[in-house]
Amino acid sequence: MKHLPFDALMELESGVIDEASQVINRRLSDMPSFFHDQDAVQAQLEEDPVLYRTYVKQNPISSSLWNIGSSVIEPGTVGNEYFMTKGHFHLKEEAPEVYFTVSGSGRLLLQKHSGEIEVKKMAPGVINYIPGGWAHRTVNVGEKPLIFFAVWPADAGHNYGAIEEMGFSRLVVNDRGVPKIIDNPRYAPGLVK
Ligand code: 6PG
Ligand code: NI
Repeated sequence: MKHLPFDALMELESGVIDEASQVINRRLSDMPSFFHDQDAVQAQLEEDPVLYRTYVKQNPISSSLWNIGSSVIEPGTVGNEYFMTKGHFHLKEEAPEVYFTVSGSGRLLLQKHSGEIEVKKMAPGVINYIPGGWAHRTVNVGEKPLIFFAVWPADAGHNYGAIEEMGFSRLVVNDRGVPKIIDNPRYAPGLVK
């Protein structure tokens, strides 16, 4: 199969990728169980805020190549927990990924099935390399949208179930205006591979 070049334009202010083949909008009602404060979830469900959007430009040539995309996480909290992505392992576990932050301020939670965890900072210009085998979740700890660019193998896929069941062992919460990493009381390791 012939591999042809392709281009895309990402609007740096908004994070929108033109002619994205997929636009995913995630509201609180798409992921109520992911937040630790279930009373806060119930209270905010009526408003049902958009937590983040992802724009994906799927590789038009072959699923064995690369996808490119961007994510825009809105500022805000559910209770004291910052707006964040669901987080996932790649279905093809060995598939890595690279994030490049364009604007805003965030944290990247990385966790292996073994429970090993790392928390990285996301800020304009920072490049985060996510090796295969690490689940990844991004969290907006700032007051404006967190916008980042991503590139990953087009056949990586997403495994959301493991994180939905098990959670990350750490939460990122707003502690009087300062982001703090705390233990997740609901963390349930070993439930799902
Ligand atoms: C991917 C990327 C990235 C991610 C979004 C939304 O593998 O596609 O990691 O595009 O999907 O930032 O995060 P969730 O997929 O966890 O909702
Ligand atoms: Ni990913």
